[in-house]
Amino acid sequence: MDTLNITSADAKIPLIRYPRFKELHEEIQLCQRMTAIAGEAQCMSLEGVTGAGKSTLVVDYAAVFPRYEISTGMVIPVFYAETPSPVTVKGMASYLLRQLGDPAADKGTLSSMNSRLINLIKDCEVKLVILDDFHHLIDSETNKILSAVSNWLKVLIKKTGATFLVVGIEGRVEMILDANPQLSRLLAARQTLKPFGWNPAELSTMTEFAHLIEFVEQAKLPLASVLTRTELLHRIHYATDGVIANIMNLMNLSAIIAEERGQNIIDLNILAMAFERRLSKHIKGKVNPFTEDGRFFAPQPQ
Ligand SMILES: Nc1ncnc2c1ncn2[C@@H]1O[C@H](COP(=O)(O)OP(=O)(O)OP(=O)(O)O)[C@@H](O)[C@H]1O
Ligand SMILES: [Mg+2]
Repeated sequence: MDTLNITSADAKIPLIRYPRFKELHEEIQLCQRMTAIAGEAQCMSLEGVTGAGKSTLVVDYAAVFPRYEISTGMVIPVFYAETPSPVTVKGMASYLLRQLGDPAADKGTLSSMNSRLINLIKDCEVKLVILDDFHHLIDSETNKILSAVSNWLKVLIKKTGATFLVVGIEGRVEMILDANPQLSRLLAARQTLKPFGWNPAELSTMTEFAHLIEFVEQAKLPLASVLTRTELLHRIHYATDGVIANIMNLMNLSAIIAEERGQNIIDLNILAMAFERRLSKHIKGKVNPFTEDGRFFAPQPQ
């Protein structure tokens, strides 16, 4: 099985590189390669529901290209930054300057900040800028798009020539791009990180989910052989909506409960407790699929 692999300094916090994770890393690489030959930045957006694993994916990409010093200064091949909230043009400029190591990040006029930022991005040989939580460009109170910031970003992309990857909540990023055609053209590659699927009519979805859970078990504790394996997996999918944050939450707490009980296996009773304590408030309107040995639960195909 080579479609998934786990790495982590601490095996208790596994990072799972599932197939879509690797595909998206390749998409980012492709944008970078295209920028290098196109004479204009080829940029990308990555959207997904909360907890889909977007930040984990891009932080893992950035980790492969750490900062390093040379005699003339710092080289930052991949620059990861979170979009501040609330965000203004000046706030964003000074935040990015600070993250790039400018000692006077919030000093000077906006135009001097802008030129320092452009110069720093070039001097640090930044090839990829990742802006996480890009949906902060929508004012959370008024729901209005902060068009001054998106226009400013368009200029920054054009002037630096670096590849930009903007990351944020599904639908919200698209809304920002739809409102700014010039920015939208620069961000031609649009990708979405969907939750894991479970569709009996599409066997590959079930296989991929089964592989994912196997890897989580290897890093944590094995699941008890209760029900049929397919039935158990289906219930885990129902309980988590296939969202990796929910899956990890369920399995992490289950492993802790099992440890406390001196068990080396996660049974239905433990899953039921973990669901109740970690997921039931977040995922509303679902019955606990692990209670009563599942006898009264018959999940419907989705
Ligand atoms: N590849 C992965 N392997 C293991 N766990 C993961 C992975 N991706 C995500 N997770 C788990 O899910 C949690 C949420 O992931 P992450 O913060 O990347 O989601 P997100 O899509 O950025 O969410 P948000 O939109 O709320 O920022 C992580 O803290 C981690 O526990
Ligand atoms: Mg995130």
